[in-house]
Amino acid sequence: MGGADAGGHDNTANGDNTATGDNTATGDNTATAVHAAGSPNTVVAWAPGRVNLIGDHTDYAGGLVLPMAIDLGTTVRFDRGGTHLRLRSGRRRPLSLDLPVAGSVARSLSDLEPSWGRFVAAAAIEVGATIGGDGEISTTLPVGAGLSSSASLELAVALALGFDGSPLELARLGQRAEHAASGVPCGIMDQLAIAAGTTGHALLIDCATERYQPVVIPDTVEVWVLHSGVKRRLADSAYAERRAATEAAAEVVGPLAQANLDDIESIPDPVLRRRARHVRSECDRVQRFAAALATDDPTTAGELMEASHASLRDDFEVSVSQLDELVVALSARPEVFGARLTGAGFGGCVVALARPGSNLSGVGSAAWLVRASDGARQITG
Ligand code: GLA
Repeated sequence: MGGADAGGHDNTANGDNTATGDNTATGDNTATAVHAAGSPNTVVAWAPGRVNLIGDHTDYAGGLVLPMAIDLGTTVRFDRGGTHLRLRSGRRRPLSLDLPVAGSVARSLSDLEPSWGRFVAAAAIEVGATIGGDGEISTTLPVGAGLSSSASLELAVALALGFDGSPLELARLGQRAEHAASGVPCGIMDQLAIAAGTTGHALLIDCATERYQPVVIPDTVEVWVLHSGVKRRLADSAYAERRAATEAAAEVVGPLAQANLDDIESIPDPVLRRRARHVRSECDRVQRFAAALATDDPTTAGELMEASHASLRDDFEVSVSQLDELVVALSARPEVFGARLTGAGFGGCVVALARPGSNLSGVGSAAWLVRASDGARQITG
């Protein structure tokens, strides 16, 4: 899912996207708790998805990323009580779990049905939830599109089940849940973007230190997300293999985000060399992109997105032809500054930076104009 977006809870697309709870997340890693006070019986929690503007396949290598939380997301709403958790999503079979989630379930998460329940169960285990309830989950996020639908689900569930801590702690919890539920060894980017998002800002994250700072998105640009039409599941993809390759390259030249370029070019294995070159060059692009946003230079930002896509396509080899074609089509439009695949690749979506007022809704198999949103929060409860 996004989290690694690996799974697929039902996309019932009827989520309440109007959540307006206070955003208490700040760019300070010692941040304020995201749990809201009060304890009426009805609990509602909301978590956004995320789109990554630049910096892919760098998070697990200790590099830089620049995602933003978006105004599409997951709502969890239930009446609290008892030691059983029953959640519906759409008209399909509901999820039924005894709390605390028993060891037998924890060991066989991958068999749990409905399959989106694996993410719920993993979040419940991480929170240590003992009080359940009866309710529903809805989402406005496309599933399996690279917008972190599973991370969004995990964080919303964790908050609904009573998580109380900082955005960074929430993100780490979500990352552990994602590893357990999907088996995908994802980095921290998706969960931290979702936990710590701020309206009107992207988040520059140094994944080596897990420190982050908001970066204003100037009003000279709008962010569009365009679906390639190729649905993917990271669990089936070469994600883990790519991560392993970056680790093998780091054994040779040290941490890739800071590695010496000449050292990278002398890695004997040509595949590891290309993987390392992507990580190193992508981290540079993230820094330059953040500077371009800060100086309101969308032309440079767009060029960096194009270069990022080329690197993900040629050096990291995580693109597919439909993504490449979408990027070419978008780049040919005068109102588009730049476009690139976003997230893990292997299908999913392209992100484009466009002039305000552009209409890209006919491009790709689906299109969303997204706005940078506040992070995950409990709305009532
Ligand atoms: C997925 C993972 C993230 C990150 C991206 C690629 O979204 O969940 O941790 O690795 O792929 O940048």
